[in-house]
Amino acid sequence: MEGLSIHVLTIFPGMIESFLQYGIVKRALDKRRFSVSVVNIRDSATDRHQTIDDTPYGGGAGMVMKPDILAASLKSIQPFAEGRHPHIILLTPQGKRFDQSVANRLSLMDEFVLVCGRYRGIDERFCERYVDEEISIGDFVLSGGEAAAFVVIEAVVRLIPGVLGDFESGIEDSFQDGLLDCPWYTRPETFEGLRVPDVLLSGNHAEIQKWRAQRALERTQSKRPDLLE
Ligand code: ADE
Repeated sequence: MEGLSIHVLTIFPGMIESFLQYGIVKRALDKRRFSVSVVNIRDSATDRHQTIDDTPYGGGAGMVMKPDILAASLKSIQPFAEGRHPHIILLTPQGKRFDQSVANRLSLMDEFVLVCGRYRGIDERFCERYVDEEISIGDFVLSGGEAAAFVVIEAVVRLIPGVLGDFESGIEDSFQDGLLDCPWYTRPETFEGLRVPDVLLSGNHAEIQKWRAQRALERTQSKRPDLLE
């Protein structure tokens, strides 16, 4: 398979599989612009209860995901079978903050693995031995990394060449140029007394481009001044 391969390790494979069935992500999979393999961590459990976690050494509430099971799960994916060592990303609130520049960087890779942690956390030795990069999607705590994997996959896939059509190019997205997007309007021309800005009805494409660039800058200044610093 040409193009990006993403491997997802999770205890809820159904969550990831259903996410993959919608919108641009589904279309990109159908067009074979990238591929995803979803691995159920539980398939690598060795006891009859399929245990993947255990109580923390030293006591405390919650459970910790076992390093041996995670390592076995990782080694079950194809790149390891083929002797490759793909870039391994752990989704965790302790990671580096995910943003458009991280999405750009990941979209240029051949292959990466997303490990979705659950519960209190995962055994530190797994991170030490296997994890190349930790990513957080924001300063809040999710119960697991699956929703973060949705965010990463969706942001990365739209940047793969050929995924978006010529007219919806990701290059024009908010953040790609460090600015928020301009406002957009569609029919009707008047909605609850509010009119579409005249310039957009003028047919003057140069003026429209200028207006959009100006509005993007103004919006960034008022809503996200930090982006301009
Ligand atoms: N897992 C739990 N919380 C997370 C977050 N904020 N980002 C990424 N993975 C997470």
